[in-house]
Amino acid sequence: MRVDVFTIFPDYLAPLELSLIGKARGTGALDLRATDLRDFTHDVHRTVDDTPYGGGPGMVMRPEPWGQALDTVLTPSSLLLVPSPAGRRFDQAMAHELALEEHLVFACGRYEGIDQRVLSHASGVCRVQEVSLGDYVLFGGEVAVLVVLEAVTRLLPGVLGNADSLLEESHAAGLLEAPMYTKPAEWRGHGVPEILRSGDHAKIARWRRDQALLRTAQQRPDLLKQCYDTLDKRDLATL
Ligand code: ADE
Repeated sequence: MRVDVFTIFPDYLAPLELSLIGKARGTGALDLRATDLRDFTHDVHRTVDDTPYGGGPGMVMRPEPWGQALDTVLTPSSLLLVPSPAGRRFDQAMAHELALEEHLVFACGRYEGIDQRVLSHASGVCRVQEVSLGDYVLFGGEVAVLVVLEAVTRLLPGVLGNADSLLEESHAAGLLEAPMYTKPAEWRGHGVPEILRSGDHAKIARWRRDQALLRTAQQRPDLLKQCYDTLDKRDLATL
């Protein structure tokens, strides 16, 4: 997958060189380029913002540098993602959708956002989607890029050593994952649920399913509601 990120703070994206994302870049599974938006300014101050038409506090990002920057990468097969609290809420389903794309382009806004004409113009070239991490306001889109790329990269073929972890993890079946334990069997007076040491794989699978159901009911009843139709009689007995 090819990914282009435009930002006035390319250093914010330094963590994308670490760990499994860094490795995915090394193997070529992820071809990621972060570019400084100020490279597309032409004044000595490398200005990217100006006061809003209609008044009000804060500054808005000017369209010219954005237009020039996006012109260098957008093609009809690109998906332009614009992090914004006004966007579609990012979730695991969206991560799966994005993992199928061949070219993601992120436009990181700062201040009060990007002049709307940039999005209008880009939508004549390719698909454009505003994306939100949640109902709160960040300084800018860079942290959203880190989050989205981490969730998407681990879904790319060959990135996770053990692809089975994708099947078992939280949200895979619409439920939160059961609690996990490792050695030692006793730690600070706390034991491990006996069933996990029984070697009975069918019983362990059932226990994990029950824990996932109960945990989801307790911590995220909204998720349970969404996948209620997929539950069988045995699941309902647990709840
Ligand atoms: N930029 C500012 N706030 C944001 C949010 N909640 N999600 C994504 N991008 C943002």
